[in-house]
Amino acid sequence: MNIKLANGKEIPVETHKARMVQKINLAPAERRLKAIEEAGYNTFQLKTKDIFLDMLTDSGTNAMSDKQIAGFITTDDAYAGSMTFYEFADAVKDILGYQYVMNVHQGRAAEHLIAKVFIKSGDVVPTNYHFTTTKVHIELPGAECLEIYIDEALNTKSTHPFKGSMDPQKLKDCIKKYGKDKIAFVRMEATANLLGGQPFSMANYKEIMKIAKDNGLLTVLDGSLICENAYLIKQREKGYENKTVAEIVKEMCSIVDLFYMSGRKNTSVRGGCLATNRKDLFDKIKDWLPVYEGFYTYGGMSQREVGMMAVGMREMVDLEVAGSAIEQVKYFVNRLDEIGIPVVTPPGGLACHIDARKFAPHIPKEEYIAGALTAALYIASGVRSMERGTISTERAKDGSEVFADLELTRIAVPRRVYTISQIEYAIDRIHWLSKHRDLIKGLKFIEEPPVLRFFIGKLAALDNWGAKLCEAFKKDFGPSL
Ligand SMILES: Cc1ncc(COP(=O)(O)O)c(C=O)c1O
Repeated sequence: MNIKLANGKEIPVETHKARMVQKINLAPAERRLKAIEEAGYNTFQLKTKDIFLDMLTDSGTNAMSDKQIAGFITTDDAYAGSMTFYEFADAVKDILGYQYVMNVHQGRAAEHLIAKVFIKSGDVVPTNYHFTTTKVHIELPGAECLEIYIDEALNTKSTHPFKGSMDPQKLKDCIKKYGKDKIAFVRMEATANLLGGQPFSMANYKEIMKIAKDNGLLTVLDGSLICENAYLIKQREKGYENKTVAEIVKEMCSIVDLFYMSGRKNTSVRGGCLATNRKDLFDKIKDWLPVYEGFYTYGGMSQREVGMMAVGMREMVDLEVAGSAIEQVKYFVNRLDEIGIPVVTPPGGLACHIDARKFAPHIPKEEYIAGALTAALYIASGVRSMERGTISTERAKDGSEVFADLELTRIAVPRRVYTISQIEYAIDRIHWLSKHRDLIKGLKFIEEPPVLRFFIGKLAALDNWGAKLCEAFKKDFGPSL
């Protein structure tokens, strides 16, 4: 909840208290340098013992509520027919408004099943923006992912409230160009992750759904971050100020054919689901569920996680839960913006994003600008963030590099995990790094897997810049920090 202070400033104040904590360790700069070298300058490859603030992702790293943990204890463990699954299905009915639901082990498993059933070679999938795993699942069967975002989407310094919207004219052009038989479905991602966690407006979403329906096209909503999108609609869209997050979420769900989500974000558990009110669609997908995920009353999740997800589903639409990360992200972004750090604005959901091209304009685009900044931030702070730029983009079929639309260092804010003083620490070190930006140089691949290389690829620092940055840090802060 945002609270106004006597000095007129607003700060996010937590509406929960920590009743269980985990010790974290600030390894000194020399150790951080060694750790990032061992990790091939890829923050995914770090071990958590070397990490101070783990801001890699908000996926599977959120704090659960006491009621969720209680749900873990009262689980009905059964391979088939577990009552815990039916409790989950009831929560889906109540919160999302869907009659038919299946669990999957995480969001990309839903993407896999949707691609398996609805995509054929030569198809196209228009989307407001891709997510890494979504794009791979669209391309594996031989289809193409068409990004038809609005022009403002790639402007990192913007005041546009809904940069995650889809361009309706581009969708109409796409239907004209490819014909409806070649369009597998129209995909909207609630809070477009790779655009910097930017929401779409309800007006835009409704317009896109209408164009799709008028043309007989299947519609799919990736609701992994649906509550953040709903929260930002409430804050920014006229006519929605007095609606609850729950009402907005239900409205979004009511006008799309097929919904899926990673449960790792909004519901704070390790799982996911796929839901719809169309039995014909559900039945087609359900046939494949036992092949890839398991029996339909657990779908690749442990029954305990299903129970916790049922509680998380009901809690996620609470205004204060939905806004818990967003308000911290807003604080983080605004503070960095004030001190001249090039961050993605307006603040969105899930993370604070630094525009690495602006932060380190001296690094050539072939040398993975956001990857270098992400590694540099770790050396300077022990804060683990994630590269969301060219390393996170697949190469073209001929093996040539595809340069990302945006080069972002994404500093995620897991829900209900970190405090403002920890965020202030990160801000301070980013500020320090900005004054030493010239020391950051590029990276080159030394091990590059053929798909989703950002997960396990390894890189090296050109000109050994990591060691020089570490030396500069020790000069200012001493050897123990
Ligand atoms: C928008 C979006 N869609 C899909 C996924 C994939 O979900 P998962 O990581 O659970 O497989 C993610 C994960 O971060 C996401 O942010």
